[in-house]
Amino acid sequence: MKKLIAGNWKMNMNREDAIKLAFSLVSFASESPKIDDKCDILLCPPFTYISQVKEICKDSVISVGAQDCSFHENGAYTGEISANMLYDIGCNYVIIGHSERRQYHGETDDIVLNKVCAARQEGLISIVCIGETKEERDKKKHEDIIISQLAASIPDGMNSQNIVIAYEPVWAIGTGKTASPDDVFDMHKLIRSELKSRFSDGSDIRILYGGSMKPDNAKQLLSIENVDGGLIGGASLKADQFTSIIQKA
Ligand code: PGA
Repeated sequence: MKKLIAGNWKMNMNREDAIKLAFSLVSFASESPKIDDKCDILLCPPFTYISQVKEICKDSVISVGAQDCSFHENGAYTGEISANMLYDIGCNYVIIGHSERRQYHGETDDIVLNKVCAARQEGLISIVCIGETKEERDKKKHEDIIISQLAASIPDGMNSQNIVIAYEPVWAIGTGKTASPDDVFDMHKLIRSELKSRFSDGSDIRILYGGSMKPDNAKQLLSIENVDGGLIGGASLKADQFTSIIQKA
């Protein structure tokens, strides 16, 4: 399966840095012939910079997405951004249910599911994040957590064209600690089997790994069976680190 390397910029950057980074990545992509035969590249900037980054990427192979969307279609929801607005400014993807949103913004599986429905209605591809906390892993509940998050946050009838799963163990995000290759293998295998049992093209749905993916561990992580790409936070903010991960993919 073609890998997807997605950069989650989170709440980082200012306008000048966002523009600079986008230009560096576009020039890297244009100097790397046939890169899109091997790997899809996605940038998810903060809402305020999406239009500008999209403009810079418009003639390149790089796609642009958002880090969240509302589950409402439109209306009196102060501060919210709808899936239609994202579509309108050229987004193809939206990250939904990132653990930081589940943790700091009270997003439940149910909210995540409704957001995925809203994104699907606008033709956006949802990248749904799932992952266990350190405590859940210590109590050996990680498999149950993943199974229940998948069941409760993914609507019926999804397919490989409108959904991507990101397995992100919460304790590995931004900590410099990655899951061991054996753990990644086991968790991705479990996710694959759940997807296959529920969706007719479940074997083609991409499963990304996220959590301290860096140039020095990307090659190993990306070579594990059922790891179809990476969702990258910290290392996506530096052009040299992000392009190095892309090259490994
Ligand atoms: P990280 O973040 O690469 O900085 O660990 C990944 C993510 O939160 O998506």
